Amino acid sequence: MLALLRERGFPAREIVPFASERSVGRVLEGGLVVQALSDDAIQGFDLALFSAGGSTSGEWAPKFAQAGAIVIDNSSRWRMQEDVPLVVSEVNPEALDAHHGIIANPNCSTMQMVVALKPLHDEATIERLVVCTYQAVSGTGRRAVDELLDQSHALLHDRDIESPSEYEHQIAFNVLPHAGSFAEGEDHTDEERKLMDETRKILGDPSIRISATCVRVPVLNGHSEAVNVQTRDPLSPERARELLAAAPGVAVLDDPASALYPLAINASGHDDVFVGRIRRDPGHERALDLWIVADNLRKGAATNAVQLAELLDARGLIGTRSVGDRPARSAV
Ligand SMILES: NC(=O)c1ccc[n+]([C@@H]2O[C@H](COP(=O)([O-])OP(=O)(O)OC[C@H]3O[C@@H](n4cnc5c(N)ncnc54)[C@H](OP(=O)(O)O)[C@@H]3O)[C@@H](O)[C@H]2O)c1
Repeated sequence: MLALLRERGFPAREIVPFASERSVGRVLEGGLVVQALSDDAIQGFDLALFSAGGSTSGEWAPKFAQAGAIVIDNSSRWRMQEDVPLVVSEVNPEALDAHHGIIANPNCSTMQMVVALKPLHDEATIERLVVCTYQAVSGTGRRAVDELLDQSHALLHDRDIESPSEYEHQIAFNVLPHAGSFAEGEDHTDEERKLMDETRKILGDPSIRISATCVRVPVLNGHSEAVNVQTRDPLSPERARELLAAAPGVAVLDDPASALYPLAINASGHDDVFVGRIRRDPGHERALDLWIVADNLRKGAATNAVQLAELLDARGLIGTRSVGDRPARSAV
């Protein structure tokens, strides 16, 4: 998020990085020094970008909001709360206007999917989705990336792997039908539930029926998704291709005869959502199949958070919750 604020030239007068006690005093690129959270330290901010997990967010987001900041939160803590807008910059930016101090950034696999689905929903009204994800290990975090690399290295050198700590099973050279976790008595993972619930909230249509299987694959970065889209009105693959080509934040890569379709390794490092393999579902006259790929750390997380900050700025919403007369600041 810090890199993206810099890269996109976000007009902050001051940026203050916060992390846990163990990182206090660490000097980041550009000379910013990591601070600890305290009731005093969080005063006077206009914006706070959070990516510290649900429990930290549960405790500190309301405190930042109380102190006058607008919080953009990456965790799942606030996403389904009714008075918290859940926003994707290309899909429902108008939802920002109703915020009460906290705005939620969606789950990565939901984010990339709704960017591609929005123009199709506007044109033909989506009735049902069947989604299978192929999610990269970077979505789990840095330790999971290390685990995949360590296991791959060991196996390629005929060594035994250490017992997995980030996943239930070996991830290298394997496919795990278990992205997220199973709550007691649940037959879907929390990742699958997020995909279903958040998609309906962002598209503003609780009637969309969704079936999801979220799968972890040994890919370093970039989530891929096979999505079957059933619409109320007829929609041809040609028209869908046209709509997607004109949609903001979407790039169509669709020439299978030349082996051209979106790939995780090519999407990684980019902000667009890439769509290809756009074709008629032979099993249903009003359904299409799509292949959707994006960088889960960029558009799936940090890019959208910074885009929301930019939209708040463009809509004149920053500074409106300020307390007293003091310079604009951002906390990350
Ligand atoms: N990564 C993704 O693709 C992605 C996408 C969407 C949403 N999310 C969500 O975003 C959240 C964070 O994920 P992440 O991958 O960014 O995690 P991460 O790399 O582990 O970073 C977490 C950050 O939070 C800080 N932190 C932890 N506990 C804290 C505390 N008590 N007080 C202050 N700071 C604290 C950590 O500080 P230290 O540096 O000191 O440890 C670290 O800087 C999760 O809820 C995740 O589900 C992640």
